[in-house]
Parts: sequence; structure tokens; C-alpha cells
Amino acid sequence: MARRTVRIAMNGVTGRMGYRQHLLRSVLAIREQGGLDLGGGDTLWPEPVLVGRREHALREIAERHGLAEWSTDLDAVLADTTLDVYFDAQVTSARVEAVKKAIAAGKHLYLEKPTATDLEGALDLARLADAAGVKHGVVQDKIFLPGLLKLKRLIDGGFFGRILSVRGEFGYWVFEGDWQQAQRPSWNYRAQDGGGITVDMFPHWEYVLHELFGRVTAVQAYVTTHVPTRWDEQGEPYEATADDAAYGIFQLEGGAVAQINSSWAVRVNRDELVEFQVDGTHGSAVAGLRECRVQHRSATPKPVWNPDLPATYAFRDQWQDVPDNAAFDNGFKAEWELFLRHVALDEPFAWDLLAGARGVQLAELGLRSHAEGRRLDVPELTL
Ligand SMILES: NC(=O)c1ccc[n+]([C@@H]2O[C@H](COP(=O)([O-])OP(=O)(O)OC[C@H]3O[C@@H](n4cnc5c(N)ncnc54)[C@H](O)[C@@H]3O)[C@@H](O)[C@H]2O)c1
Repeated sequence: MARRTVRIAMNGVTGRMGYRQHLLRSVLAIREQGGLDLGGGDTLWPEPVLVGRREHALREIAERHGLAEWSTDLDAVLADTTLDVYFDAQVTSARVEAVKKAIAAGKHLYLEKPTATDLEGALDLARLADAAGVKHGVVQDKIFLPGLLKLKRLIDGGFFGRILSVRGEFGYWVFEGDWQQAQRPSWNYRAQDGGGITVDMFPHWEYVLHELFGRVTAVQAYVTTHVPTRWDEQGEPYEATADDAAYGIFQLEGGAVAQINSSWAVRVNRDELVEFQVDGTHGSAVAGLRECRVQHRSATPKPVWNPDLPATYAFRDQWQDVPDNAAFDNGFKAEWELFLRHVALDEPFAWDLLAGARGVQLAELGLRSHAEGRRLDVPELTL
């Protein structure tokens, strides 16, 4: 029985994702469960080294969670030969420069998406990481959501027959920041700072569609900024230069089509903040973050269009819940555990920086499709 330690520089832990999902719900949660069970009585103990720009914020987080190591000096942290992994959840625009330093220092890499603000940058990181022989992974948390795991189970079980179409609805109202504070950081709404809903969400849609239904082969998008003025963290008005809604149509390998609306300017009239309806010849499903409901062909009603009469069916009552049949862990933590097993045991890990680059590619092509007013093929990426 041995306890091995993996030392992880965590950059961006003062941010929304870095703190809550990655530090608290993943790395510290793994420590709370006694480390990561590697089998044979061995455990892996993650030791975070908090990295950031603001000393007082880092010290405060370190003290709150009884962590000994934090630093505002990334170069010094990377120079530490006992450090194994560099994790990055900074603002997207700061990522490439920091990751290049980590590659030069020979650290394994685990990165938030998008891995870079443009495809060239994302491919560059993937090539450099391969050349340096370090292990690398990108956060692709949505496929670990309970709702999507249940959807995957339905696909694997042949529930749908031939899958025809996917329609996704993602979004919620993000307050402008004047009379109620915005619930997302202001850089999300400034293109010059790496913001925009297309670069934020299309990377997610790329791996969700790819893993569940088939690679995206073509994209057509309409992208817009519905709310042109917002108020920042200091209460100052600013021009929203980035898109806050993207309406995309994605053709998939295998013939299905997906249409996904992504918006920070929509009010929620759904059961969950994201929902995907999948229609197949033998059945349909609606999956969200946690829940999944189905309707089999044998239980499909036969509505008849007649606007003169009230609907005689309560359509939403005619769907059946898919049971959990398993305990679902936090999606970020589940992927962290797989990545750490990849580092410690050399187990395979599918979501590398090439996968990360595919997400950036889809975002870039989505924006170009809008700018050029046409559908664009999505070429298969290689390094
Ligand atoms: N996987 C997901 O579902 C998901 C969800 C939201 C965001 N993200 C990604 O996570 C990353 C962080 O997003 P967030 O919402 O946590 O952002 P945030 O603004 O809350 O946090 C940003 C972090 O970067 C640091 N930072 C470094 N340089 C900065 C600079 N020049 N300006 C401002 N902050 C700087 C901040 O100190 C902070 O720690 C982004 O790349 C984003 O795309 C992923």
C-alpha cells in the first residue's frame, strides 16, 4: 500500500470555474474521499499549488482550505522540478502564453476550454505538447453530466433506431449589470478579451455531438449581439463587442442534423438550462443536465392539427423518465480522475489537445460562417 503524490499548479483558481468546479468540487473533493484509488491499495494524493495574479485572493483561498502552497510567480512554480501538472482555468486570452511556459518546463497539461482563442494557437499547443512528450487533456465536462450519460446509454442500447435530428436549447438571461449585477464576468462580452458565446459554447457542442452522434462535418451559424451595452464589475457601462447569441446548424457524420441555440439573452421556459431533444425512427428523448425523458414509437400519440380546438393531449405528460441506475459524480471531478489516472498509470485519455483544437475550430468556423453568410465544411483536423 503506497500513497503517491501528484503536484498540480492550478492557475486561475480565483475565477468562477477554477475555484468552484476545479479546486472545490474536483481536486479538494478527491482529497476529501482520501485520494484517488489507483487499485492494489495504492492511492494518488493531489497536492495543489495555487497560482494567480492577486496575492491576497490566493492567500485567502489557501487559508480557507488549509492549503500550504500558493504563488503569484508562475515562472518560479514551473521551475520546481517536483511539480507534475500545470492546470489552466484563467481567462481564455491568457492561456496560450502560460501553457507554452509549462510545456517548456516539461509539465503535463490539463486545460479549460477553449484551449486558445484561435485554431492556430490551439494546434500550436497540441503540437508543442506532443513534441515535448508531456501528457495533455482538455476539460470536456458536459459528456459527464448525468442527463447526457443517460442519453449515451439510450444510444448504446439502440433505443432510437436511426437518429434523425438533435435540437439543443442552451441559455438563460444574463443580467446587464446596471440594476442587477451580471452573473457572468464582463470579459465574456468583450471580443478583444476573448469573450463571446460562440467561442464559449461551440467547443462544448463539438465534443457533445462528436461523442454522442458523430463528427460535425459542416456548420452554418447566425451570430449576434442582442444586448449592446452592459455594466462591468465596477458598475461602469461598456460596449458589448462580443456575440451573446449563436444559432447554429451542424451536419453530422452519419447523416443526422443538429440545431443548437446558445443565448445569454433568453429567459428560461424549460426544465433545465440546457436541453437536447433527439428524434429517432424508433423513439425520442429529451436530455438535460440531470434528467432524461423518452417516448417510444409504440407510445407516440397521433396529434391532429386543428387550431379551432384546445389540445386534448398534455404532451409533456406522455414522456417517461429514464432511471439513474447509477450514482453520478460531479462531471468535472469524474474527468479530473480520468486525467490523473492517465498521468499516474498511463491509462488512455481521449480528450487531448487535438480534441481541444477541434472545439476551437468549430467556434472559428461558426463565426466565419456567419461573417460570410454561408455554410462551411469542417475539415478533419490532424497535427
Ligand atoms: N467547462 C466549462 O463549462 C466552462 C464554463 C465557464 C468557463 N469556462 C472557461 O474557464 C475559463 C475561466 O472562465 P471563468 O468563467 O472562470 O472566468 P473568471 O473571470 O471567473 O476567472 C478568470 C480567472 O483568470 C484570471 N485571470 C488571468 N488573467 C486575467 C486577465 N487578464 N483578466 C481577467 N482575469 C484574468 C482571474 O484572476 C481568474 O482567476 C475560461 O477559459 C472559460 O472559457 C469553462
